[in-house]
Amino acid sequence: MTPSPIIAPSILAADFARLADAVHAIEGAADWVHVDVMDNHFVPNLTIGLPVVQSLRKATTIPFDVHLMITDPERWAPGYAEAGAYNVTFHAEATDDPVALAKTLRAAGSKAGLAIDRDTAIEPYLDLLPHVDTLLIMTIKAGFGGQKFLPGMLDKVREVRRRIDADSLEVRLEVDGGIAAETIEQAAEAGADAFVAGTAVYGAHDPARAIAELRALAGGVG
Ligand code: DX5
Ligand code: ZN
Repeated sequence: MTPSPIIAPSILAADFARLADAVHAIEGAADWVHVDVMDNHFVPNLTIGLPVVQSLRKATTIPFDVHLMITDPERWAPGYAEAGAYNVTFHAEATDDPVALAKTLRAAGSKAGLAIDRDTAIEPYLDLLPHVDTLLIMTIKAGFGGQKFLPGMLDKVREVRRRIDADSLEVRLEVDGGIAAETIEQAAEAGADAFVAGTAVYGAHDPARAIAELRALAGGVG
């Protein structure tokens, strides 16, 4: 049975001058807060890094789901685990040894996530699933919020779901990019059980209400 859905609003779509307020606005409604770290190398965009995560960690108790869109994750990822992130996800395209990095992250105190960008095939990574806690399928090209959901990415989600279920693995299957009321049901049907939503939550008049609506559409309660 698929566990109850995780809704993870992305603060990329929030007001960066008021990040603590943005996190407080989803307390009691969101399961995780998704933090997009971009380095202007792995992706063209530049966002926030470790000092901001360290400060924000003190402002809330919501678990942090850190999504590292950076080169050289071996060097930087453990710092986010040490800063108290619940889950730290790095990109498959950015490392030669994802299993070793996942191990390092778990030793540093967080869960370990592996992200697959739009143009990356999933097949080479299926055998790695027992070594990670989260598998994140990008449903856009990583780098910017507010892009259009790519339904073609759901084939990867289905494939991962098949393997998770066949091998009874405890892996969260997360989708990221263009997740909104119009798209979350198809992602859930394909087998995702964790949903990142930036624009759909922080672009809404009432972020907590938007989360509740997304959760209901994803098959969750409350
Ligand atoms: C983009 C980020 C996403 C982004 C999603 O590369 O990884 O987490 O915030 O934003 P929306 O939900 O607006 O597509
Ligand atoms: Zn993200």
